[in-house]
Amino acid sequence: MKQFTQKHLLGIKDITVDDIELIFETADGFKTVINRPIKKVPSLRDVTIANIFFENSTRTRISFELAQKRLSADTVNFAASSSSVSKGETLIDTVNNILAMKVDMVVMRHPAPGAAIFLSQHIKANIINAGDGTHEHPTQALLDAFSIREKFGNVNGKKVVIVGDILHSRVAISNIICLKKLGAEVMVCGPTTLIPKHIESLGVKVETDLMKALNWCDVANMLRIQLERQDIKYFPSLREYSMLYGLDKKRLDSLDKEIVVMHPGPINRGVEITSDVADSKHAIILDQVENGVAIRMAVMYLLASQQS
Ligand code: NCD
Repeated sequence: MKQFTQKHLLGIKDITVDDIELIFETADGFKTVINRPIKKVPSLRDVTIANIFFENSTRTRISFELAQKRLSADTVNFAASSSSVSKGETLIDTVNNILAMKVDMVVMRHPAPGAAIFLSQHIKANIINAGDGTHEHPTQALLDAFSIREKFGNVNGKKVVIVGDILHSRVAISNIICLKKLGAEVMVCGPTTLIPKHIESLGVKVETDLMKALNWCDVANMLRIQLERQDIKYFPSLREYSMLYGLDKKRLDSLDKEIVVMHPGPINRGVEITSDVADSKHAIILDQVENGVAIRMAVMYLLASQQS
């Protein structure tokens, strides 16, 4: 039987292709579970998981919480704004206090890149990185690749363009690493100011013309502009950005083939993608959300299974 090689899920960088395939196979099983009338299995009974969110989140937090409930885990939720962090407590003290209450696994989102890695070096529980600043967001990349696999049967050989704010996006970085590991061809597209220097070293193509990128790809993953992480202005206005890089029906219809449209959410309708595209048959945005629960169930199940 295949074994998961990791104690934590800190980034896609650290896991092997076999790990990713094992997560996908496990998620296939859990996807059938969550589509049954009775959606719950006892797999993580007796496992206690803390969800620690130092940054805003709707989808990811609810997705993890639902995944935990479907697996019958016990959970505690912690949001930094209402906690002792605002009284000056350090990250390690906060988490160690939670662990002292006998918590087995920690799901953490934090604005600092490397926060999950740091935590894994100092505490005993399994850590899942639910997004660390502009660094990595491994479960998002896994659910995105899983959704491409579901749509096409395979990720290998598919052409995926990631459009938008690559510079500030942990989704972009984790997606690039994951898709490359699985044999996809990856392109990034956006204004030069939002494309990190030396991104080619990750084995991706760079394109600044959206129409060329769309004509090349099988899948377009449209990212949100991360205004909250932008300290300076990277483009003149959101209106100009959407004129050059927004995906609308006209652009989609002008292609001589059908492409699949993805978005990690939250969508800024009318900026990176128009409503008619977001709600069209091309978009698999809600499939991504559904698959997120199955992927997170798989990750937590695999991490918990190797504890004994
Ligand atoms: C992403 C994130 O938080 O990095 N959202 C998510 O997890 N669904 C992308 C974003 O915030 O734009």
